[in-house]
Amino acid sequence: MNIIFLGPPGAGKGTQSKRLEAQYGIAQISTGDMLRAEVKADSAIGREAKALMDAGKLVPDAIIVSMLESRIQKPDCAKGFILDGFPRTVAQAEALDGMLKRLGRKIDVVLMLQVDEDALAERIAGRFSCAKCGASYNDVSNPLKVENTCDHCGSHDFVRRADDNRDTVASRLTAYRNETLPLLPYYEDRVTVAYINGMAPIEEVSAQIDAAMSEVEQITQK
Ligand code: AP5
Repeated sequence: MNIIFLGPPGAGKGTQSKRLEAQYGIAQISTGDMLRAEVKADSAIGREAKALMDAGKLVPDAIIVSMLESRIQKPDCAKGFILDGFPRTVAQAEALDGMLKRLGRKIDVVLMLQVDEDALAERIAGRFSCAKCGASYNDVSNPLKVENTCDHCGSHDFVRRADDNRDTVASRLTAYRNETLPLLPYYEDRVTVAYINGMAPIEEVSAQIDAAMSEVEQITQK
């Protein structure tokens, strides 16, 4: 199963794709995480990407497409993958179509997470994650069960993203509206697009996604 997650910054793409990765045994590919790893490693890509990410702007298509092309050919993607944060422009979607065609693969479903813009800034401001295992939390909607202790690995170390501030969120939303939203009509013409109400609590969003995935599985098995 090959899945694309679309939705604005803070919609819950990462939260839901990590869950689907575990449920379906397919690889979550977050271009944001890949870029943050490059920034941390102070690589040439990381140095070019950092200023753009800090400003809430998109990283050039050519960099992202070549990163993605090598990633989807890794063994852990053989059973399928979940694209979280890619494609983000029509040019990236066209490049993806070309590479999937060459590999004899296709996208099975686009999951579109819909969230009111007013809710996004608050979600992003409250987000933090475990520095050791990467589990994602939220001060308001998804807090730790035990204070200062990761529910998953017990670590006491947590991090917040450099681009999770109100000014950068405004730029990220502008980039989303102008460059990523045009992907909806692009995919509606080509593949099943399932619209998910991302305003619901996390467990309810998960249930909507599971229902959409069951429908897609029935269609693909026919
Ligand atoms: P990226 O890392 O992809 O960030 P994003 O798209 O802005 O998305 P986020 O990770 O902020 O949000 P999310 O939807 O994953 O939400 P999450 O699940 O964490 O990209 C960062 C930057 O990298 C970009 O700005 C760009 O510069 C660059 N980049 C990346 N890919 C690129 C590409 N393809 N092309 C060019 N540039 C690229 O949830 C958010 C919070 O809400 C969490 O705290 C969570 O616990 C909480 N939450 C989740 N679901 C719910 C719910 N249902 N109710 C309440 N709270 C919830």
